Formats: sequence, C-alpha cells, structure tokens
Amino acid sequence: MKFLNESRKDYLQFQLDEGHIDADPINQFDAWYHQACEHSPFEPNAMQLSTVSVDNHPSNRVVLLKSYNHDGFVFFTNYNSQKARDIAANPTVALTFFWPSLEQQIRIEGRAEKAPESVSVAYFNTRPRDAQLSAWASDQSAVVNNRVDLEKRMNEMREKFTHGVPKPEWWGGFIVVPCRFEFWQGRGNRFHDRLVYELKNDDWVTHRLCP
Ligand SMILES: Cc1cc2nc3c(=O)[nH]c(=O)nc-3n(C[C@H](O)[C@H](O)[C@H](O)COP(=O)(O)O)c2cc1C
Repeated sequence: MKFLNESRKDYLQFQLDEGHIDADPINQFDAWYHQACEHSPFEPNAMQLSTVSVDNHPSNRVVLLKSYNHDGFVFFTNYNSQKARDIAANPTVALTFFWPSLEQQIRIEGRAEKAPESVSVAYFNTRPRDAQLSAWASDQSAVVNNRVDLEKRMNEMREKFTHGVPKPEWWGGFIVVPCRFEFWQGRGNRFHDRLVYELKNDDWVTHRLCP
C-alpha cells in the first residue's frame, strides 16, 4: 500500500484554549467565520451536511450556509432532494466546516427544520434569474437521461417565466438548530485542540476532548 505522505503538513499557526473562547458558541462561530472570510475566501460558507436516510444509510454533501444567528444555521435546497427526504425521516443532522488556511474545523450537530416560507421567498428573490430558473428546471437528486434534456428543461422554464420567477413550492430553506459544537484547531504533531459546547438544560457547557 502506498501512503499519501508527500503532502503531510504540521499545523503550527494557532491554538485554542478555554480562557479565550466565548461562552456562547454562536459568538465563537461568528468570530471564526469572520476570520475565515478574510483568510479562506473561497466559499468560506461551504459546509458538509450529513444526513441519515430512513433505512439508516448515511450520506453527506456540500451546501452553502446562507444565514446564521441564535436561532440556527440556514441553507437552501430542493425539498424533494435526497437530503430533504432524509431530513423528513430523520431530522438529526451534522454540519462540518473546514478552513485549511486557518487549520480549523467546526462541527455542528442539531435538528433540521423547514425555514419559514417567508424566509425562503425572501432569499429566493435575491437569487439571479438563471439560478431561480435552475431551481424550477432541476428535479434535484432524480435521474435524468442526459445534459441535453436538462438544458431543454431550462429553456422551457426561460420561456414559461418571462417576467419574474416565483419560488417553486418544493424549494426552500432548512434551519439547523444546534445542540452541539466542536471547535477544532490544528496543532503540531497531531496534538490538536478540541473544545466542545453541549446544550444542557438550556445552558452551553464546554469541555475539551483528546485530539
Ligand atoms: C460548493 C458547493 C456548494 C453547494 N451548495 C448547495 C446548496 O446550497 N444547496 C444545495 O441544494 N446543493 C448545493 N450543492 C450541491 C450539493 O452538494 C448536492 O450535490 C445536491 O444538493 C444534491 O444532494 P442530495 O442528492 O444529497 O440531496 C453545492 C455543492 C458544492 C460543491
């Protein structure tokens, strides 16, 4: 077996300690996210979303975080997609951010709920016209014969919606209401920092995990 050791890196830039974290994990997320926007500018809001299907099959994919606050973390998608079907059967999900240039990872676990329709409409209305049309044209996660059929469907939508594109009823947001965070800071010799926040009786309690 060949090991991929050519790319081995030691993580030496930063450290994370209990004395310098916010008591509120959303504020801590906010601090790291702003650093990521500055130092890891290619899609810092890209996050892995993991779901588990009705027959206990796990899967994950990248989605874009579009908003966050103390209510939770919001992304948008097709409500008929595989991920949405998984969430309907099992709303417990996990999110992971990885910002290589900061040697940081954040893991979030929580419960996904459909966002209010007004939020989905408001966000949909900010999308460029072609992205709005693509939401209509794509039966996300369904099998399609070929690219030509997809383009045909897109052209049909272009002709159908000549003035403005309404949000499809099957498209919208999910808000992930968090119950656990882990902030991971890479350190030298694989001896990393891991600080966890868990919600216990409405309070966030923190502890450190071995790397
Ligand atoms: C950088 C990046 C951003 C993406 N953002 C989204 C998104 O915000 N919403 C979405 O539904 N899919 C997004 N996708 C596509 C998903 O990864 C995935 O292919 C799609 O949602 C279908 O997943 P599913 O079949 O598991 O439901 C993105 C992919 C990448 C690589």
